[in-house]
Amino acid sequence: MSQEKVTVRGLRDVAAADSKLSFVDPKGLLYYLGYNIDNLVENVIYAEVAYLLVHQRLPKKQELEDFRSQLFLEMNLPEPIIESIKNSPKNAHPMSILRTEVSHLAEFDPDGNEFSPDANLRRATRLIAKVPTIVATLYRSRLNRSTPEPKKEFDFAKNFLYMFKGEEPDDNETRVIHRFMILHADHGFNASTFAARVTASTNSDIYSAVTSAIGTLKGPLHGGASEKVMDMLDDINLEEEVEEYIDGLLEQNKKIMGFGHRMYKAQDPRTKHLRGIVEDFCHQDRTSDLYNKCISIENIVYERKKIYPNVDFYAAVAMDALGVPKDFFPLFFASSRISGWVAHILEQYDDAVLLRPASNYIGELGRVFVPINQR
Ligand SMILES: CC(C)(COP(=O)(O)OP(=O)(O)OC[C@H]1O[C@@H](n2cnc3c(N)ncnc32)[C@H](O)[C@@H]1OP(=O)(O)O)[C@@H](O)C(=O)NCCC(=O)NCCS
Repeated sequence: MSQEKVTVRGLRDVAAADSKLSFVDPKGLLYYLGYNIDNLVENVIYAEVAYLLVHQRLPKKQELEDFRSQLFLEMNLPEPIIESIKNSPKNAHPMSILRTEVSHLAEFDPDGNEFSPDANLRRATRLIAKVPTIVATLYRSRLNRSTPEPKKEFDFAKNFLYMFKGEEPDDNETRVIHRFMILHADHGFNASTFAARVTASTNSDIYSAVTSAIGTLKGPLHGGASEKVMDMLDDINLEEEVEEYIDGLLEQNKKIMGFGHRMYKAQDPRTKHLRGIVEDFCHQDRTSDLYNKCISIENIVYERKKIYPNVDFYAAVAMDALGVPKDFFPLFFASSRISGWVAHILEQYDDAVLLRPASNYIGELGRVFVPINQR
């Protein structure tokens, strides 16, 4: 049989659409709307980045104030969603609950079935605001505790951490959550964003597209990696055991979680910021211990495989230092990446083309059909 198409396994290096939102430079640079993230992370708050992605430009002062007010007003959840979260099985993975409740939110959307650009923009803001509230409500309900109401005087990212932890984050924790959320906000056509765009490309609704994205982020090769990083760090009792542990994994041809990247040939530009965040927490004994193990792992994996840590490696320790349990790590990722997802979904609606690749059929043709009672 003649092969008419060349299979690009894993769609490696295939550009599936044009995008203005973020540029992942393999040389180890990342830009949102043309701004280097190194500059953004030092100078802006997360809400500013969310605005930048959704509106494709930085806000003026009043625009940012208005956007923050909109986010604040949208941080509530419909009562049936709160009930559904409270009644969800305690042993289900929290990402499964988040995926379900985002889908559930569609039923309560005040814009109903309206599919105009304005309605979709309102939904985008709504989702940026509500996903973190779902995460906080789920965590608090698992602790049998109530979720505090967000406070008007707190900024959006601070409110997220406040609602999650049930106590006011200090200045350092507030700085960390902003930086964490900025660094996770967007990343080109990563797998979950691509999944969201595929769903959006059929002109399906934004909730369906974000539900696709969450299901895709959940996998350990994507956002689920940070949880696996912490499993690995927990498995290694002492820093001295790192070498033997890593060599053991490599001998079995297993992947080291939190390492390697499809796009970067150099260091992931987010790693240095996350490593810095972790260093700032090293006054905590546990973080200092984890940090030392991380440095050893980083050195040994580079020595053996010449690969670098990706965003999930130090993000895991940063979240641990913030008091987030490991099964909630991917939910913090989702609470930040939601701004990138919705921005890409809006961009995909504008592009108005169905994302539908071909496949190379390698099966047989013309087989003789045999009825079931003769097989
Ligand atoms: C992210 C990831 C899926 C990218 O995969 P990819 O672009 O398909 O890259 P490949 O799996 O083809 O890896 C290329 C080479 O590097 C090696 N490699 C890549 N990541 C590795 C890892 N984490 N541990 C060990 N080796 C790794 C592969 O074994 C392969 O080596 P080979 O050429 O000798 O066979 C992959 O690096 C991975 O599985 N990492 C661990 C999970 C993770 O941290 N995910 C979060 C990503 S942000």
